[in-house]
Amino acid sequence: MPRGKLQMNDETDNKLWGGRFSGPTDATFRAFNDSFRFDRRLFAADVRGSIAHCNALQAAGVLSSVEAAQIRSALDTILETVQADPSQFDQTPAEDVHSFVESRLIQIAGDLGGKLHTGRSRNDQVATDLRLWLRDEIDLIFGLVTEVQRALLELAQANMSVVIPGYTHLQRAQPILFAHWCLAYFEMLARDRERLSEVRRRVNVLPLGSAALAGTSYAIDRESVARELGFESISRNSLDAVSDRDFCLEFAGAAAIVATHLSRIAEDIILYTTTEFGFFELSDAVATGSSLMPQKKNPDSMELVRGKGGRIFGHLMALLTTMKGLPLAYNKDMQEDKESIFDTADTAKECLSVTTTVLRNLRVNESRARAAAEQGYMNATELADYLVRKGMPFREAHDTVGRIVKRAIDSQSELQDLPLDELRGFSSLIDGDVFVALSLESTLATKSQTGGTAPERVEAAITAARQRISS
Ligand code: ARG
Repeated sequence: MPRGKLQMNDETDNKLWGGRFSGPTDATFRAFNDSFRFDRRLFAADVRGSIAHCNALQAAGVLSSVEAAQIRSALDTILETVQADPSQFDQTPAEDVHSFVESRLIQIAGDLGGKLHTGRSRNDQVATDLRLWLRDEIDLIFGLVTEVQRALLELAQANMSVVIPGYTHLQRAQPILFAHWCLAYFEMLARDRERLSEVRRRVNVLPLGSAALAGTSYAIDRESVARELGFESISRNSLDAVSDRDFCLEFAGAAAIVATHLSRIAEDIILYTTTEFGFFELSDAVATGSSLMPQKKNPDSMELVRGKGGRIFGHLMALLTTMKGLPLAYNKDMQEDKESIFDTADTAKECLSVTTTVLRNLRVNESRARAAAEQGYMNATELADYLVRKGMPFREAHDTVGRIVKRAIDSQSELQDLPLDELRGFSSLIDGDVFVALSLESTLATKSQTGGTAPERVEAAITAARQRISS
């Protein structure tokens, strides 16, 4: 068939909008236009919203109590039968999830089923469904973020004696407790939980009752629909309500930040499991081998978590770009929101679960980490602080210690291995107590302000962190 020639669809059409049309829909366009293959995920939300709308129509006097009861029971039947046998999704030419539910309803309840769409449009319906669906997903994701936090706390608690090098510019900087590293990621995820809760509040607004764009002319009590569906508030402008996808953008934004945090955990773990670092070992359960090199143990779990960040960012960009040029109010472009949002939620959930498993099974090589933390002049700042305590201005102390480090590098030793006499050659303020100051233990213990890596601080931070996620 020549390109562009109309392809007729011989399936029985069960469109919701056929009256005005005399010609059939081109099959290629139809496949392009239909969203049922993906928006079927909104099925349960669509039925739930439909039941609430049915109740509102009854209260408004549009449906008698007998009619409303019949519609409710038909909707319950549809929910039960399709959930029991999801293959029914594949045996229908439905355009989208809304037409699927409505055509089923008409099959069961006959002409009465056709009354349900009174005062409602697919525009306020789809916005309602998506908000209902996303609210549940946010709750799941919130729980999974908390699980990662819990795994970090357990890992910290089980390894309280472990010291690792802390880095800036990926150069050895100052020693830190491994538990302090765990708590750094805990804090990132704590902000994610806050962000998700805030996004949830703006997701939890009822658009139903906005109809196509102008509002509904039936006496629907929107506040009562909101209460029934668990929405905290109702939308204030019908034009905005049917064309607003800020809640999707915000969710994708919050998910992108979660993904950034997971990617950073992943990157640290990938790095620290290399032979060069050797601080961690991944469990076999979350590593893979090479088909060619028998010795390999690859951190694929963490690499995928790192990589999938790109996918989530892509969805955020796609959503922003889809929305940016749209005139008011609803436009079909907005159907493109679903696959991005669905995949964002799925990917975030997968990444969170895998990260929890990796952390729960991570082995920490204490002696290797400690040896690394004791080398590389990471106590140089300590020596400068020591001189400051003895009365030297910090800038001068910095310069003095810089020269001592240079000497130590030349003689291939660490600061604490230089003889006292040699150290005193740089400053007479240096005494025998310098070696205590240079020890790993005192380096850590002095960082005792809130937020520091001193062991008692970190212990207290773990206790506080546990409480923060228990409420
Ligand atoms: N499948 C559509 C979507 O996802 C539902 C709304 C359709 N509304 C319309 N006026 N065609 O956006």
